[in-house]
Amino acid sequence: MLYANSVALSRRKLLSVLMTSMGMGLMPASLGAAPRNRPVREFHLRAAANRAVPDARLSGPTDVWTYNNSVPGPELRVRQGDRVRVRVTNGLAEPTTVHWHGVRVPNAMDGVPHVTQAPIPPDGNFVYEFDAVDAGTYWYHPHYRSYEQVGRGLYGPLIVEEPDPVRADRDLTWILDDWRLGPDGLIRDDFGNRHDMAHNGRVGNTVTINGRPPAGLSVRGGERIRLRLVNAANARIFSLDFEGHAPTIIALDGQPVSPHSPKDGLVLLGPAMRADIILDMHGEPGSRFAITDRFYRGLEYQLSEFNYASTPLRSEAPDWKMDLPPNPIPEPLTRGASRHEVVFNGGMMGRGMGAGNSGGMMNMMRRSGIWSVNGMSVEGHFMEPFLMLDRDRSHVISMTNATAWHHPIHLHGHSFRVLSRDGIPTRHQEWQDTVMMAPREKIDIALVADNPGDWMFHCHILEHQAAGMMGVIRVN
Ligand code: C2O
Ligand code: CU
Repeated sequence: MLYANSVALSRRKLLSVLMTSMGMGLMPASLGAAPRNRPVREFHLRAAANRAVPDARLSGPTDVWTYNNSVPGPELRVRQGDRVRVRVTNGLAEPTTVHWHGVRVPNAMDGVPHVTQAPIPPDGNFVYEFDAVDAGTYWYHPHYRSYEQVGRGLYGPLIVEEPDPVRADRDLTWILDDWRLGPDGLIRDDFGNRHDMAHNGRVGNTVTINGRPPAGLSVRGGERIRLRLVNAANARIFSLDFEGHAPTIIALDGQPVSPHSPKDGLVLLGPAMRADIILDMHGEPGSRFAITDRFYRGLEYQLSEFNYASTPLRSEAPDWKMDLPPNPIPEPLTRGASRHEVVFNGGMMGRGMGAGNSGGMMNMMRRSGIWSVNGMSVEGHFMEPFLMLDRDRSHVISMTNATAWHHPIHLHGHSFRVLSRDGIPTRHQEWQDTVMMAPREKIDIALVADNPGDWMFHCHILEHQAAGMMGVIRVN
């Protein structure tokens, strides 16, 4: 973890923070006032500007933005069924919000400025409260000018433990990120520039794991590791090759999946995506194995490595089961489901604005954006829903990526099953909240729209989101 210089809260500021938070103790009525027997887990996050060192080999202190003075922010770890209450105070010089990525929260707790709440002003605060209904690996980040706020280090893990977790010798979390440092070792402040927006986003040049330059991982023969991978980068896509080892994927985006080896042994993680993998360490004492990121052809690099201790932990891999219990997500029926089409368009080498869509609605929308969803290009968070879903019904959304680029597409408030890619049913019908679409790919997803409200649906390459690749889906 990268610790920033701590910034003392002035006494006056602290007082005003306390006073404001006391005034915010009331929860929206929609959450239900009925007392629960669930433990309430309380946390406090304070977003603030700081200085820190992403990689001492390359840079001195540079301007980062942090939760509780560290990158990543603190790991919030709760058990499934817990009530989670997080008081967020904004020590930044601009508004912010916190979004609980992948967590099925009530709409008012979703952290989307102007859509689900007013932005938290500088020195303001907001209390988020929700039940951790699903176990799994989640994360939190701002939803206000995310391309800079996340890009400067505002993100952290949210781990919801299963009541009966799969057995492993160690349960580790790796939050992957990359930074764009200039020759002076400082974070380049060209956030949200038009070139990044129109191409593959702000891909940086310095990768960190948990806010630090990756070091090797010390392991022992026979050891079983559960590794929770989170991609918190603005735009970088990872494809991890654990040389000599065969990772077993047991959960994607927090949701259990039948344990399997990924295609070609590579763990693919677009921005915001998570994978829980099981690694059985079977190398010789003293050996080393590279962990290589192979996503960008010609730009492969060694991310980390396994370093084996001289004495094994046990002589053979354990035979403990790897299946996680399912989360309580309603199962969509595909027969009789309502069907909807969504087309993503734009960018360099796209098929031109508005392809496959026309009509009055589109003409009323801004057409200046680089990217579009069903012909509309929205910037800022002021928008009307582009799709209405009847509540508690099953829906199939057929998505087309009409662009020449990859896009990790994220829906708030729900997890969906990935039914098919280019018409071919997926092998695992995995639940995701963020699905990677390859250039020109078509993907069908299905969900029961059981969570009422206005939910963001957007590309998680944060520069694409900022340049129009987002919309709102209304469940009512
Ligand atoms: Cu992780 Cu709308 O975001
Ligand atoms: Cu995108």
